[in-house]
Amino acid sequence: MKIIKKIDVNEISKWSSWPARLLGLSEWKNIKRDASKIESEYDKDKYGKTLVFFNKSKKKPTMEALKQFEYHDYRGTVCVSSKEKLLITKAEDALGEYYKILAREVLSEIKDGDAVVELGCGYGFNLDLLKKKSKKDIRFFGGEFSQNAVNLGQMYFKNVGSDIKLSQFDFYDKEYKLFENIDGPIVIFTAHAIEQIPDISNMFRALRKYKSKIRSVVHLEPTYELHDDSLLGLMRKRYAQVNDYSRNLIGALKDAGDVKVLSVQKNFFGLNPLNVSSIVKWKFKK
Ligand SMILES: C[S@@+](CC[C@H](N)C(=O)[O-])C[C@H]1O[C@@H](n2cnc3c(N)ncnc32)[C@H](O)[C@@H]1O
Repeated sequence: MKIIKKIDVNEISKWSSWPARLLGLSEWKNIKRDASKIESEYDKDKYGKTLVFFNKSKKKPTMEALKQFEYHDYRGTVCVSSKEKLLITKAEDALGEYYKILAREVLSEIKDGDAVVELGCGYGFNLDLLKKKSKKDIRFFGGEFSQNAVNLGQMYFKNVGSDIKLSQFDFYDKEYKLFENIDGPIVIFTAHAIEQIPDISNMFRALRKYKSKIRSVVHLEPTYELHDDSLLGLMRKRYAQVNDYSRNLIGALKDAGDVKVLSVQKNFFGLNPLNVSSIVKWKFKK
């Protein structure tokens, strides 16, 4: 990623409207992140609009064009974070860096013949990217709450002749039925999807049923509990609170009991420096 310059935390308010919101100096209404919020923000707004764009386009858009449509406000010069550093770069370079990290961290866990399952996969952008980047023989599956995203992904993959399979899935379900029809070994990953779940403890209860076929799990997710009391750390914590984002991934991992944490790369990279991806890898103990 080409860095234009490094900035001090004091300068972040020039690049983000969040510090003013977090300090109560510009309008903000705290969110309750329940099913109706996910339906309105993702199913109806983001994915509903992207689905209309797909259906209306005479020449069917590429996956990259769908992402561009969805991310229309992420352009120009942006502020990202790498560990605790704040960096200015071009939006396209930032996205390139993020997807390079995602592909590297997930693909390195997968062996020939494995299945890979993304939970909270949207319309399957990441799965499509991994399939294009991998030379291995991998089966690709996605689970997603938004029916519009599932429909869009299914139409897209059918149109391009891809065998990536998406189905409806909810992190809060008691049973994760999509795993019943997938043979192991399975590598699971999530990318800013657990972020949407304030309390993720249910996922560990639900996944345990399939533990014999799960090779490992990779998360690119914010880790609330790992933020320190620096100004940046405090802003990151408050950002998660006012958006009702995930706040117990690390605690739920510890509470699970039968889980071995393989690695934690704290606050590794943030397309939004206040909502930064840590990279967490774990597996069920035998
Ligand atoms: C920030 S998006 C990330 C999507 C995708 N992982 C990506 O990287 O492009 C968050 C995703 O989580 C999904 N999501 C939110 N709540 C969910 C739930 N309870 N069960 C499954 N998916 C959920 C949203 O619909 C959305 O697709």
